[in-house]
Amino acid sequence: MNVFLAGGSGTIGIPLVRALVAAGHQVTALTRVPAKREMLEALGASVAVADALDRDALAGAVAAANPTHVIHQLTALPKQAPRRAIDIEATNHLRIDGTRNLLQAAIAAHARRFIVGSFAPLAGSNPATVSDAAAAAVRSMESQVLAATQQGLIEGVVLRYGMFYGPGVPSTAALVQLMRKRRLPIVHGDRGQLPLIHIDDAVSATVLALDGAPPASTYEIVDDHPASMTEIVTTVAKCAGSAPPRRVPAWLPRLVAPYLARMMAIRMPLSNARAKAELGWEPKYPTVQQGLAQMFRHAA
Ligand SMILES: NC(=O)c1ccc[n+]([C@@H]2O[C@H](COP(=O)([O-])OP(=O)(O)OC[C@H]3O[C@@H](n4cnc5c(N)ncnc54)[C@H](OP(=O)(O)O)[C@@H]3O)[C@@H](O)[C@H]2O)c1
Repeated sequence: MNVFLAGGSGTIGIPLVRALVAAGHQVTALTRVPAKREMLEALGASVAVADALDRDALAGAVAAANPTHVIHQLTALPKQAPRRAIDIEATNHLRIDGTRNLLQAAIAAHARRFIVGSFAPLAGSNPATVSDAAAAAVRSMESQVLAATQQGLIEGVVLRYGMFYGPGVPSTAALVQLMRKRRLPIVHGDRGQLPLIHIDDAVSATVLALDGAPPASTYEIVDDHPASMTEIVTTVAKCAGSAPPRRVPAWLPRLVAPYLARMMAIRMPLSNARAKAELGWEPKYPTVQQGLAQMFRHAA
């Protein structure tokens, strides 16, 4: 397959380029940054330099690559987890306008299939209770892809990933660093059930969805079990050999980092059963405890 990967230089983009190339696919990775060309070429990809918000430049880049498959992995989040609603505005814009531009470019280039990487915690939120801009942008991104599929313009597939963790994931690196400085507390009464996914498992599901997913399907790409932030933090402490984390009252993170606090309080036990049944996918790391333990063993 000839794959155009928007977001090819990102957290999932880089291991996904590696996996696609290893599976024998031809890959064009999109970036805005000419200096990343060498790194992406070293992974075996061709490189397209364009801004997804520049409709004409993007259409030119996609047409030149002449892809059979387009994968959308664009976000513009700060490298450390977003803390306030304002930190996610650029990503909202990208999810609405960037999706429209990429979808139009893919259809104009006669690509057969369009796979979009979505974000389970926002996609799965109940519109009646969560009506903020971030959730609306994710809903727009997914519905644009599914509407184009219903119109017979392209075969859209939605992959709702849990929160990424694992080697090379900036939020995991930040967590480990904070833990080593004893600046990572656990929150009193934490009953969160976070949908998570090891980055390697997100990559393997995406490669399988390239041709294995029926058009218009939506999959939850998550671990076998959700985990609370408290479970994640105590696992990191144990694996890193750090002292047990301090406990803080729930109002403190809500005051300091409201967006992050809301994300961490999510109770969303999603199911990966459909992805397992239809894609033949099995997560290599069924729980975050197994995934983190392997990451620390490997680093050691
Ligand atoms: N991180 C998570 O925990 C997480 C969890 C669930 C789902 N996801 C989903 O996974 C996907 C990718 O996330 P990620 O964590 O890999 O993101 P990331 O590491 O922040 O990478 C973002 C990518 O988007 C590109 N990009 C940003 N703005 C662009 C623009 N205007 N034009 C062209 N390219 C642009 C960046 O390229 P350059 O900077 O090189 O131009 C980079 O390749 C998204 O669909 C996201 O919703 C992420």
